[in-house]
Amino acid sequence: MVAGCRARAPAKVILLGEHWVVHGGLALASSIGVYARVTCISQGSGLVVESPSLSVSEELRGGRCRRLCGLARAAEYIEERLGVSTGVRCRIESDIPLGAGLGSSAAVAAAFAAAYSCLLLGGRQPPRDLVNGAAYEAEKVVHGRPSGVDNTVTVYGGLLLYRRGSLMKPLPPPPVSDAVLLIALTGVERSTRVAVERFTSRLRLLGDQASRLIELNDSLVAEALAALWRKDYKRLGALMTLAHGLLNGMGVSIPLLDEIVASAVAAGAHGAKLTGAGLGGSVVILAPRDKVDDIRASMPAGVRLLEASLAAPGVAAQPIPEAASGAGGGRG
Ligand code: MEV
Repeated sequence: MVAGCRARAPAKVILLGEHWVVHGGLALASSIGVYARVTCISQGSGLVVESPSLSVSEELRGGRCRRLCGLARAAEYIEERLGVSTGVRCRIESDIPLGAGLGSSAAVAAAFAAAYSCLLLGGRQPPRDLVNGAAYEAEKVVHGRPSGVDNTVTVYGGLLLYRRGSLMKPLPPPPVSDAVLLIALTGVERSTRVAVERFTSRLRLLGDQASRLIELNDSLVAEALAALWRKDYKRLGALMTLAHGLLNGMGVSIPLLDEIVASAVAAGAHGAKLTGAGLGGSVVILAPRDKVDDIRASMPAGVRLLEASLAAPGVAAQPIPEAASGAGGGRG
């Protein structure tokens, strides 16, 4: 008998292909070692989810959700598939910055889906496709038209080549090298839904060019992958900076993102680009290790720099035995 389950799921970075992937293009993405955690304890008859950092506590059953409706949908999906439900109280704790393009909503949804389905399965590790399906349903509520890349990366982990509906290819971890991947956090929160709408309307406006641009994205992704295996970081960086230029041309950059890209490259980075939806959020910077201090010094005021550890393991759940349940919302 278990009192509950806890689960954690990693953040992600898209190295190349965001937005194009919504329209059938390829994306290259990786999980990173920053996590969202959810603890679910069997309790009462409702489905209460709280997030102290967001100052939210909501009952999700009976159409009463307000801010966490994606999780309400994920819970329904799991209950439909498993044919059971239970009273439960869940607590979200996340180290993933919100609205930063690092897949926070997908990681929270995956950790919630894994913890709740683990509880319904009597403490067993839930099947990944169940968790992935539930996290995708949550993403649909939050973003409207997700490609599925964010939930897939957080659930399966690792480095992934992804095409909506047809390809999910796990790749071996990138070779160890003296190049580092930095994430520059602008602190400017943005809505993925708004960015996707803006990109989509620009793509429609471009008419016949749209399919050529998607093909160009695909060839940049394929080239980037080849450059990564050859450890040709100069070329990989140049491809990233070019991809940023295209995203800028599609209307999803902002001056601060452009400034970060330009400053990083001027300070010796191999290349840089916005990551995730854009309009704020973060920039990924590929850099020689010995240039990190110069790049840090070149960042505009208020921008925070993290070093990303790529190819973190995907979502995982573990049971909480009866005797430990007094801990309530402990960390996973
Ligand atoms: C967001 O992390 C990535 C986008 O391509 C949206 C999506 O793929 O669903 C902008």
